Amino acid sequence: MNNYRESKKKILVAGGAGYIGSHTVKELVKRDYKVTVLDNLSNGHMTSLEGVKYVNGDIGDYAGVKGILESEEIDAVINFAALAYVGESVSNPRRYYDNNVVRGKALLDAVVDSGVKKIVFSSSCATYGIPEKVPISEGEKQRPVNPYGWTKLMFEQMMKDYDQAYGLKYISLRYFNAAGADADGTIGEEHDPETHVIPILLQNTLGLRKQFSVFGTDYDTRDGSCIRDYIHVTDLADAHIRAIEYLFERETSDCFNLGTGDGITVLELIDAVQRITGRKLNVSLEGRRPGDPDVLVADNSKARSVLGWSPVHSSIDNIIETAWKWHSGE
Ligand code: UFG
Repeated sequence: MNNYRESKKKILVAGGAGYIGSHTVKELVKRDYKVTVLDNLSNGHMTSLEGVKYVNGDIGDYAGVKGILESEEIDAVINFAALAYVGESVSNPRRYYDNNVVRGKALLDAVVDSGVKKIVFSSSCATYGIPEKVPISEGEKQRPVNPYGWTKLMFEQMMKDYDQAYGLKYISLRYFNAAGADADGTIGEEHDPETHVIPILLQNTLGLRKQFSVFGTDYDTRDGSCIRDYIHVTDLADAHIRAIEYLFERETSDCFNLGTGDGITVLELIDAVQRITGRKLNVSLEGRRPGDPDVLVADNSKARSVLGWSPVHSSIDNIIETAWKWHSGE
């Protein structure tokens, strides 16, 4: 076992200026890791955290990434850099395969060629598609139903093959619905355009949108609307630190589902947002959004038992309260 705690490990965080990336960078700094962020700022926002080096660049730039890994003497990489709009991935798949797979391969090549050989990857429950069994365990068949999910699964497959051939050690973290914001209100979820349900609900309460559309009320769920497992971004950040520690300690590859194990419907979410913000929403009931599975809930027992991880910030109230603080500036 390596004594990774004895020295400050150096981590390259690709996509570290984005939503989940920036929360993880903050947590890494808190725990004394030395962090270099690589981001092309296509969706990210550079915050300036003390002690973090920010490089404006792309994961597809093999020579550039290899140069950073070698000159900064990086010990491990976390890859958040990806496009993440399911709908856009259907209308413009070439952009998704290019960013998430082709450029992702350049990053993996640089990681193995520079001898770093440790990576934590942002995967997704979207790799499971429409699950046969809920709650979803890691053993569930991975059959994506959109190009976004396929790009995540392909990256997982590349890592598996690179492990077998080149000894790359990886952890795939399959997030369920990432939500919430850092407790101090300095970083939060900001996508343009916004498609995620909680930011859209909060933009409605702030008068930035006129109406909230519920996509589907005829699903086979307790109230007919879709069930999702919302996981707080600070809990996700903690899981990345545990995954990095696991790689340094055990040097074995693995994958983990990250969710709370509890699902909430869209209609229940609306009630919670109205209760917490004290504002009324103008709700319209609409038809289904293509590609939405009725229920996505994680079986998180593997992450609990192997990584010692458990969600502690992910009550729906805390998720909405922290997101509200970020969106409203209150
Ligand atoms: N929804 C609405 N109205 C809206 C927006 C969303 O009713 O205006 C509903 C959706 O139909 C869905 C739920 O709210 O039932 C959550 O939708 P999101 O778009 O917030 O998130 P998804 O469940 O679609 O998330 C999916 C995958 C993730 C993936 C993410 C990528 O579950 O794994 O898309 O953005 F990472």
